Amino acid sequence: MKCRQCLSILYLFFFLASFHVTFLGSLVEARKSSALSHKKHKHGKGKSGRYCPTPAAPTPPPGSTDPTMSNNFNVLSFGAKGNEATDDTKALLEAWEAACKVEGATVEIPSGNKFLINPITFQGPCMPQLVLQIDGVVLAPPKVSSWPKSGLFQWINFKWVQNFTIQGSGIVDGQGSEWWMSSQSTTNKALRFYSSNGITVRDITITNSPLCHLKFDNSVGIQVHNVTISSPEDSPNTDGIHLQNCRDVEIHHSNIGCGDDCVSIQTGCSNVHLHHITCCPGHGISLGGLGKDRSIACVSDIVVEDIIMHNTLFGVRIKTWPGGIGSVKNVSFSGIQVSDVKVPLIIDQFYCESNVHCKNQTGAVAISGIQYNKIVGTYSTQPIHFACSNDIPCSDVDLIDIQLTPSPRNRGLLQALCLNSYGKTAAPLIPQSIDYCLRDGHRLARRVQSSHEKICQLGY
Ligand SMILES: *[C@@H]1O[C@H](CO)[C@@H](O)[C@H](O)[C@H]1NC(C)=O
Ligand SMILES: *[C@@H]1O[C@H](CO)[C@@H](O)[C@H](O)[C@H]1NC(C)=O
Ligand SMILES: *[C@@H]1O[C@H](CO)[C@@H](O)[C@H](O)[C@H]1NC(C)=O
Ligand SMILES: *[C@@H]1O[C@H](CO)[C@@H](O)[C@H](O)[C@H]1NC(C)=O
Repeated sequence: MKCRQCLSILYLFFFLASFHVTFLGSLVEARKSSALSHKKHKHGKGKSGRYCPTPAAPTPPPGSTDPTMSNNFNVLSFGAKGNEATDDTKALLEAWEAACKVEGATVEIPSGNKFLINPITFQGPCMPQLVLQIDGVVLAPPKVSSWPKSGLFQWINFKWVQNFTIQGSGIVDGQGSEWWMSSQSTTNKALRFYSSNGITVRDITITNSPLCHLKFDNSVGIQVHNVTISSPEDSPNTDGIHLQNCRDVEIHHSNIGCGDDCVSIQTGCSNVHLHHITCCPGHGISLGGLGKDRSIACVSDIVVEDIIMHNTLFGVRIKTWPGGIGSVKNVSFSGIQVSDVKVPLIIDQFYCESNVHCKNQTGAVAISGIQYNKIVGTYSTQPIHFACSNDIPCSDVDLIDIQLTPSPRNRGLLQALCLNSYGKTAAPLIPQSIDYCLRDGHRLARRVQSSHEKICQLGY
């Protein structure tokens, strides 16, 4: 497609999107339950008032019906008040403990109520097919000072649970605004799953987390869909979904907008499939930072497709710290639609947060087998930034059908950069300079890389 055509189609797209927002904004709720689910657009919740287009919602699987009343453990019948002020933690925990013993039970957090819940751990194992039905609002304590010291790592923690579902039309509100303003640097999460298998999180809204909204670590078999995650654009370090040591993960048909990464994939992740996700605003989708403090990092078999990124700082990014060990391999990014994204495609083997000295380090987490296919839209600074190391160049980085044109809002542009990056290209390629960016072949790189991959195969 010619530049000019591409631009005018994008303009048309955003004209239509803003038309929807302006005239149909008040119908969002009605639309949610209507059959229009294939072409809906919705207000972003960022303070800037910018809008974020929404992907089509999936159709519900057959047989997903209301929970049977006999297995229903409603928090109100365990003494919860749901008045926003009374601490309902104990009631919720008791409901959980009762439900945990019954196969196919549902813990019900009913609509029309707001439950104040302090940091809490729900521990398994439980009987199979436990459901946490969130239709009401779950609120974290609003003051940083009211969080117990021991709860500084996560608000609602699920540990050792299996075959478990969170669903419902409710809202999980981390009330993080005071955290964002304080200089407290903790690793606080709203919902965390630790060492858990067969987990589904669907339909709910998670908002205003102190830091990360939804975290999975050391877990296998994760499904996240039809979930909305939102925090203001200026909430620092608020990731949407964070994965570490996780495999067999599918995240799809969700709307994620917060201050930092939309989805962050960390070491130990494999077989992760992200699709039909809208990211806006924030930092886009990231693999890494990997290999910090000379650590071993292993990430493989990642598919990211059918993603809309609007007004994010980055599009899809792989970042590794100098001095790391291990490998990132077999990653495919396709059908990524960007608009007004600062730098859509990034590989950075020199990732280093400003407060850490790492310039001196040699070596890097090896990067190979990265495919970019059908990356279309507008950028505001640089279309591609591949900064790979001298010691361990990036190999088999393929660019196919890349159509990136400058955003009308750009303030000066940089050419595509491919430092120590080897791979193939296939047309169409816009800007054309992409065609000369990557270098051809590189046997040496492959040899060094396979030694790094072996470290990962040894089971790190
Ligand atoms: C949960 O367990 C049931 C029966 O044991 C099984 O059929 C189902 O696939 C499991 N679901 C998940 C998400 O693991
Ligand atoms: C998505 O979640 C909303 C509640 O947040 C629900 O009303 C809607 O039916 C869900 N859509 C699908 C397709 O499950
Ligand atoms: C690459 O990853 C995909 C998705 O997980 C997987 O289906 C495929 O088999 C992997 N390819 C190789 C060569 O490992
Ligand atoms: C950094 O480099 C200098 C000079 O090459 C060397 O003397 C020093 O030990 C290095 N520091 C670290 C932390 O590696």
